[in-house]
Amino acid sequence: MRILVTGSEGMLASDLIPILAQDHYLYSVDRAELDITDAKRVFKAVDVYRPDVVINCAAYTAVDLAETELKLAMLVNGIGVQNLALACSACDVPLCHISTDYVFDGSKGTPYVPFDNTCPVNFYGESKLAGECYVRWLTGRFYIIRTSWLYGRRGNNFVKTMLRLSTQRDEVRVVNDQIGSPTSTVSLAWAIKVIIESGRYGIYHVTDQTDGRLSWYDFACEIMRLAGAGTRVIPITTAEYPTVAKRPVYSVLDLMASRLSVDYPIKGWDVALAECIEGILKA
Ligand SMILES: NC(=O)c1ccc[n+]([C@@H]2O[C@H](COP(=O)([O-])OP(=O)(O)OC[C@H]3O[C@@H](n4cnc5c(N)ncnc54)[C@H](OP(=O)(O)O)[C@@H]3O)[C@@H](O)[C@H]2O)c1
Repeated sequence: MRILVTGSEGMLASDLIPILAQDHYLYSVDRAELDITDAKRVFKAVDVYRPDVVINCAAYTAVDLAETELKLAMLVNGIGVQNLALACSACDVPLCHISTDYVFDGSKGTPYVPFDNTCPVNFYGESKLAGECYVRWLTGRFYIIRTSWLYGRRGNNFVKTMLRLSTQRDEVRVVNDQIGSPTSTVSLAWAIKVIIESGRYGIYHVTDQTDGRLSWYDFACEIMRLAGAGTRVIPITTAEYPTVAKRPVYSVLDLMASRLSVDYPIKGWDVALAECIEGILKA
């Protein structure tokens, strides 16, 4: 397949591009080459490349800043995706769009299925939901792939923050009352590959496998253990660590329907984490 990937300098794209390139022809464009908020350039890119699928890895991902940069977040995550959806629709090209567990409010208390009602609790989630809506309203053939707690070797993420703090501090305080599923960019990239090769359009949930009870504190403890760090991890409550944007307290994504539809590969969260940390520490 010929695949156009937007946001090629991002954390996910940096692992997705080499994995897709094993079997496909890629046109990877970063923000300077294709700003998705520029409707004309988006149309031209899709029209000129005529890919078999567009994968949108471009996004505004600053969750706390989004509470004040409302327009920018909506411009990229909402209108930018509208531009891609309109262009894909006009050229009859399927669109694969990456979305988030933050479209849910976290009050369900059991894993979210792709058919659950969305109700974001922060503006980043609102803007990502807008993107999902445009894809659903404007394209006939789409893959919306929701993921959560994403980390990888590139970019800023929780794993790299913990590794950095492990060399600077004797103790870190981490919230123990927000539950979710970490996802390695490598795991997500392989799943995206299998899903876009399937031709089975729809909404997918993709994360690494957990028991549905993993907190940021548990995640941090395992990071420190794998790094061989002596840093103590102290469990705290969300109330003790206020953030500008509210987070869903429980955002585990249910994988069953997605994996029955497309049997993408899956790894245990601890296995995927160990592989990522090994790569980071070796580099
Ligand atoms: N990170 C998470 O924990 C998480 C969790 C769930 C879902 N997701 C979703 O997963 C996807 C990938 O996330 P990620 O962590 O790889 O994000 P990322 O590292 O922030 O990468 C996003 C990329 O998009 C680019 N970009 C921003 N505005 C753009 C525009 N107007 N036009 C073109 N490119 C633009 C950014 O460029 P600049 O660096 O120049 O701004 C960056 O290279 C996103 O859809 C995100 O919402 C992420």
